[in-house]
Amino acid sequence: MFLIWLFFYFVWFLGTKGRHSRFISVPCNPTVSHSGNNVTLIWRYRLSQADRAHFRRLLFGQWSDGDISTPLMSLSKNGSLVSRSKRIEWIGNKTTAAFRLHRVTTQDEGEYGCSLQFSDSFTVRHTVQLTIVAPPQIKEKNSNLAKVEASEGTSVVLSCHVTGNPQPWTSWLRDGQTLQNSTTLSDLIIPAARANMTGLYDCIAGNQAGIDKYQVLLLVTSCGHLSDITHPAQDSPHKDHNHDMESPASFTPTIVICVILFSIFGAYFFFRSAGERTTKKLRKYNRMPKDEQARSLMGEWSNFADNGEKI
Ligand SMILES: *[C@@H]1O[C@H](CO)[C@@H](O)[C@H](O)[C@H]1NC(C)=O
Ligand SMILES: *[C@@H]1O[C@H](CO)[C@@H](O)[C@H](O)[C@H]1NC(C)=O
Ligand SMILES: *[C@@H]1O[C@H](CO)[C@@H](O)[C@H](O)[C@H]1NC(C)=O
Ligand SMILES: *[C@@H]1O[C@H](CO)[C@@H](O)[C@H](O)[C@H]1NC(C)=O
Ligand SMILES: *[C@@H]1O[C@H](CO)[C@@H](O)[C@H](O)[C@H]1NC(C)=O
Repeated sequence: MFLIWLFFYFVWFLGTKGRHSRFISVPCNPTVSHSGNNVTLIWRYRLSQADRAHFRRLLFGQWSDGDISTPLMSLSKNGSLVSRSKRIEWIGNKTTAAFRLHRVTTQDEGEYGCSLQFSDSFTVRHTVQLTIVAPPQIKEKNSNLAKVEASEGTSVVLSCHVTGNPQPWTSWLRDGQTLQNSTTLSDLIIPAARANMTGLYDCIAGNQAGIDKYQVLLLVTSCGHLSDITHPAQDSPHKDHNHDMESPASFTPTIVICVILFSIFGAYFFFRSAGERTTKKLRKYNRMPKDEQARSLMGEWSNFADNGEKI
């Protein structure tokens, strides 16, 4: 009894399976292609006499959430073909649904499907994932050797913008030594450049589709004046002191000191010259002959006497 039930179940299962799947071969899932190539998707199917009687149309397009989202091509029972894109070519026949997508890009990635629609609103569908791999491409790459100049102590960014699918890893090397290797960070950031960092740096980007390389020359110049202007905070304490001397805050004490010194020296020279004048007079007096000395004294007295006389 159980065996009979199992037998009928098996027949029913085969029947439904056969009824639902007219496809006898389908494309690879996922179908992987390099960007720029032509991709061919082929579904082979077998239709019974009854199927052919009810067949309405064949539909090809992009799918999302189990249903067609962008119809790209439809083939009606009467043989009329409607295409929504110039990049898609029908290469099929009565037993084969075959489509060629020309020059695919990473934007063409997604789920693609084929459906057979019958008049009793019965549909058979099958979808595959299309993955487009793109080899890495470094945007900075140029025929000339790239050169980056930086002064010692400053921060430098060696940039390396990479496109590719899947997201490539980006590696920075110098003299065969890996400095950085990451899929999220592609730029090499040097916080403070040193003179011994001058040299050739290689940016290498890679994924399963290939590898791209780029070389840049970093020149670190140790120019003191340049760093003084751009980075006053990094000046030596001695230089800072010099800057202070010129600043207005410390200028006032300098003036005060100068004024005091000037006054001291001024007073000194004034009194010195006054003293010299008296000593000169004295020396002159001493050099006079005795009688003249006396006369001179007398004169003074006589002047006094004259004045006295006049009074
Ligand atoms: C893709 O198809 C075009 C014709 O549309 C052809 O010229 C080209 O060579 C094909 N490319 C490849 C990689 O087969
Ligand atoms: C073929 O059938 C479609 C509808 O399925 C119709 O739009 C089209 O005009 C028909 N073409 C011819 C040549 O009969
Ligand atoms: C239909 O095309 C496929 C390849 O696209 C080929 O293998 C098959 O033999 C063709 N069938 C007929 C009946 O032309
Ligand atoms: C960087 O790391 C990846 C794995 O994440 C590896 O495949 C690749 O070879 C590394 N590149 C270099 C230059 O070391
Ligand atoms: C570069 O010089 C610094 C000191 O300025 C030193 O610490 C570092 O090891 C040097 N690096 C190389 C590669 O010579």
